[in-house]
Amino acid sequence: MRTQVVIIGAGPAGLLLGQLLHKRGIANIILERQTAEHVLGRVRAGVIEQVTMDLLDEAGVGARMHADGLIHEGVQICVDGTRHRLSFKELTGKTVMVYGQTEITKDLMDGRAAADVPSIYSAQDVTPHDISGDRPRVSYRAGGKTHEIVCDFVAGCDGFHGISRKSVPARAINTYERVYPLGWLGILADTPPVSEELIYVRHPLGFALCSMRSPTRSRYYLQCSLAEDLDSWPDERFWEELKPRLDDEARDRLVTGPSIEKSIAPLRSFVAEPMRFGRLFLAGDAAHIVPPTGAKGLNLAASDVRYLSRALIEHYEEKSDAGLEHYSARALARVWKAERFSWWMTMTLHRISDNPFDHQLQLAELDYLFRSKAAATAFAENYVGLPY
Ligand code: APR
Ligand code: PHB
Repeated sequence: MRTQVVIIGAGPAGLLLGQLLHKRGIANIILERQTAEHVLGRVRAGVIEQVTMDLLDEAGVGARMHADGLIHEGVQICVDGTRHRLSFKELTGKTVMVYGQTEITKDLMDGRAAADVPSIYSAQDVTPHDISGDRPRVSYRAGGKTHEIVCDFVAGCDGFHGISRKSVPARAINTYERVYPLGWLGILADTPPVSEELIYVRHPLGFALCSMRSPTRSRYYLQCSLAEDLDSWPDERFWEELKPRLDDEARDRLVTGPSIEKSIAPLRSFVAEPMRFGRLFLAGDAAHIVPPTGAKGLNLAASDVRYLSRALIEHYEEKSDAGLEHYSARALARVWKAERFSWWMTMTLHRISDNPFDHQLQLAELDYLFRSKAAATAFAENYVGLPY
């Protein structure tokens, strides 16, 4: 088999890249280790920057997002029982869209199926070969047989645990990492959200987040220890631990109900540099991870894909490799700023240390954020997404 670009991984990064390339007549095949149902079963964050929305429109898959997504003009931060609002609209003129990553993945999968572009699910032992030469290949096993695809480029969109980054010699890659000593325990419930906007909560008992998927579906998170076991978190316990962290109004409005999903996610910051090795290009979680505070994961995956799709289009349409040469540096410049913002939000809102000095610093940071227009504008600029 032969194609122009082999894409490893059918998460949002791989699917979006495939769609943008297909729109410009660039042949691509996606190889995904899991089944499509498994990929759609993962619940992840759901805040989309304007630039990500624009890219989904460009890929031709934005219709359902515009119909069902919720435009948010601001965000709320509750500090020790008192709620504050920051208006993105007033501070930056921009807004964000609340629309689940699962729905985006579904829209991208449907778009790909409608365009009849090939995806191979349940592909085992996917392995890139000869990425430093002109004719890379990717082998995989399916249906008991080994197959091989010859291509021009390989896009490693296979997430943090994928094979692409691991197939590069360790000496060719620099990694930067910070693991936080905590996780997020999340639940999804068919109950109306407690507020029309997201509420990020800083409280001595620990961080909480009130988010949503629709006017009738809520998503809540609690800071938890990494050793936590889901079995010891019946729904009642979750709601009882959430309530004291909220302000009076939110506590009164909170509608509890049975969870339809419950999971624990560890918090990690990670960057691998560079993002290009010969003809292998990494994009999304394969190259970097942010903690979920700030909801930058999907948006960063989309910004990598924007740079990479334009670079590949330039290669095929204009016979110029300038975009490919600059891909890693351009993508990383945006990645590191989102890493900084996600780290800052994480450190400012969670109970990470027992040192009272650290608590006072958090309160000073937040007081400054609510009192200074400059600080609020800097926050809002980062939250709605920095320009490319
Ligand atoms: N071979 C083929 N596919 C693989 C392999 C492999 N060896 N390893 C992993 N994959 C697949 C995974 O099964 C997954 O479907 O690659 C896909 C990677 O998808 P994501 O983890 O969703 O990563 P990405 O597309 O970069 O999306 C980034 O998703 O993880 C969130 O917070 C993150 O919102 C961000 C977004
Ligand atoms: C979510 O709705 O799942 C969500 C929202 C905002 C975040 C993280 C997760 O910062």
